[in-house]
Amino acid sequence: MMKRIGLLTSGGDCQALNATMRGVVKGLANLTDELEVYGFDDGYKGLIYGKYRMLTSKDFSGILTQGGTILGTSRQPFKLMRVPDEKGLDKVEAMKQTYYKLCLDCLVILGGNGTQKTANLLREEGLNIIHLPKTIDNDIWGTDMTFGFQTAVNVATDAIDGIHTTASSHGRVFIVEVMGHKVGSLTLHAGIAGGADIILIPEIPYDIKKVTAAIQKRAKAGKRFTILAVAEGAISKEDAKLSKKKLKELQAEKAKKYPSVSYEIAEKIEKQGIEVRITVPGHTQRGGSPCAYDRVLSTRIGAGAAEAIMDEEYGIMVGIVNGKIKRVPLAECAGKLKTVSPKDQTVKAAKAIGISFGD
Ligand code: F6P
Repeated sequence: MMKRIGLLTSGGDCQALNATMRGVVKGLANLTDELEVYGFDDGYKGLIYGKYRMLTSKDFSGILTQGGTILGTSRQPFKLMRVPDEKGLDKVEAMKQTYYKLCLDCLVILGGNGTQKTANLLREEGLNIIHLPKTIDNDIWGTDMTFGFQTAVNVATDAIDGIHTTASSHGRVFIVEVMGHKVGSLTLHAGIAGGADIILIPEIPYDIKKVTAAIQKRAKAGKRFTILAVAEGAISKEDAKLSKKKLKELQAEKAKKYPSVSYEIAEKIEKQGIEVRITVPGHTQRGGSPCAYDRVLSTRIGAGAAEAIMDEEYGIMVGIVNGKIKRVPLAECAGKLKTVSPKDQTVKAAKAIGISFGD
């Protein structure tokens, strides 16, 4: 049976995008004799402006270990999808036209939360859509794991490991700032894996007095250094109490003074006469080759998407729940954020071994 599919990667990249696309295409190639694959350049941009190329099996060979995306990606905010572009083009209509012009059976979209919302919009517009959950943040509702997350945990853990030796030589306090946008999953896992002493995540607002008390307690116990794993979205108890609007205004003010949240936290700690250094691994967390776990997950999700295409089951995200590949309706998961529960067993385990969350 002839299958004609479109592929696009949208939003921030991660290490396992190519591995996942490889899984989809190799999986389909084994299930159908006739296959046409169109790859869109730079995410939804390629679909809007009709920038695509036909891909062959050769394009998917040798890319399992290659980070980034062979298609390129870009951020096309969901909230602007219904807003015409600078030339007055209706983006949604343009995407539909490209889809119909190519007579696609299905569009496979790899991306995070924002990407998923647009995928759902296209589903509502009548297109056959399969979304695959990509992000180093692991914040997509409806799947236990996103591809890219475990590799990023490894990179952030390496960053914390690298700080350990210098921290102990100098007897200083170090902050390692971890990505994750508004969610603390990446910081929680890298913090535990890297042996951080204090972990600050958005879901558990911190009290700076508790943070400095934890540092001082360690110093009194003869520990020469303290390492904090701080999520880029970490928030203080006072700020967490503000309305959304007030918080946005305050954060805009703070952005003028501090390059990121760690600098604000460091300033508060330094007021207690404690020397602090900051390390921000930044986009290295999205770089490099996917780890073995992600290669396996990507292959399973890719193969799962190929099966769904053969079953003609669309309007879904292919995720993983309790170790099993699951087809989750986009109508159910789009627009929902998966956050870390403060009651999560992993948080409890971290607290049980004495890691402070500053709460
Ligand atoms: O969603 C992935 C992510 O890396 C977040 O962790 C981070 O907040 C954001 O993307 C950074 O985005 P950009 O690459 O646009 O700076």
